[in-house]
Amino acid sequence: MKHTALITGASSGIGRELARIHAACGRDAILVARREDRLEALADELRREHGVESVVLACDLADPAARRSLIETVLGRKIAIEYLINNAGFGGHGPFAKRPWESDHAMIQVNVLAVAELTRAFLPAMLERGAGRILHVASTAGFLPGPLQATYYASKAYVVSFGQAVAEEIRGSGVTITTLCPGFTETEFVEKADLTDLRMLDGRTGPGPRPVAEHGYRAMERGRTLTIHGLGNRVLIEGATRLLPRNVLLPLSHLSMKKKSDG
Ligand SMILES: NC(=O)c1ccc[n+]([C@@H]2O[C@H](COP(=O)([O-])OP(=O)(O)OC[C@H]3O[C@@H](n4cnc5c(N)ncnc54)[C@H](OP(=O)(O)O)[C@@H]3O)[C@@H](O)[C@H]2O)c1
Repeated sequence: MKHTALITGASSGIGRELARIHAACGRDAILVARREDRLEALADELRREHGVESVVLACDLADPAARRSLIETVLGRKIAIEYLINNAGFGGHGPFAKRPWESDHAMIQVNVLAVAELTRAFLPAMLERGAGRILHVASTAGFLPGPLQATYYASKAYVVSFGQAVAEEIRGSGVTITTLCPGFTETEFVEKADLTDLRMLDGRTGPGPRPVAEHGYRAMERGRTLTIHGLGNRVLIEGATRLLPRNVLLPLSHLSMKKKSDG
């Protein structure tokens, strides 16, 4: 395999577009997610349209044993991971004390632990080679606390902090880490996270996954450390976090997360 990326969450949304962009550059990939049929269909498409090799490794990233097995398989096949794209993630709505703990626990496994573990597994070899690109897909949610999506926002805050910190540790090594922060994006994520009825989304449409993925892939290739997608998101995040004190920001964040059906 050549110029291989390991891409998590390649079965839909932003991850699938990242896989398509990577393949269009003539680069191979290992495609990871749970829905194997979707990954196989994507692998066929990438082979057909771009002549690249794609290996499908179905894996539930919420399962620590499955994560270990994924890493052992890749290391065992001696595939050099030149690009690591930590994109898989999911959210969920509701007061923390009432949400199913299994769901928040799995969210931390996928959004936090898988990101850290895959980075720890593949970064050392990149550093030895003096070359490599890592892209973490975080979120604008990573910049503030999110009442009613407490675990999701906190998980993305981890990725924003972790990504920047390790990027700084390895500065000048030839390996870069880019953290992409999309805002609201039209993918399966919104319905799966039970966010369709949110007041803040009333009548609002976001971009599709393609421009977000293009922005992130470009930033990764340039070796940028942190990037927020979309001017509106940048203004909102910079403005809200720099200008508003926490005691104002928190209730506003809470209000924006309420559902229309909450009255
Ligand atoms: N859409 C938004 O508004 C938005 C905004 C900011 C950030 N993001 C972030 O962008 C990333 C991609 O999300 P998306 O919007 O493209 O949503 P999506 O279409 O729902 O894609 C999520 C991907 O993650 C994978 N995934 C979820 N749980 C997994 C698990 N346990 N094991 C392995 N793979 C798993 C899914 O694959 P399977 O279901 O096949 O396993 C899917 O490929 C996420 O990290 C999300 O937090 C999204």
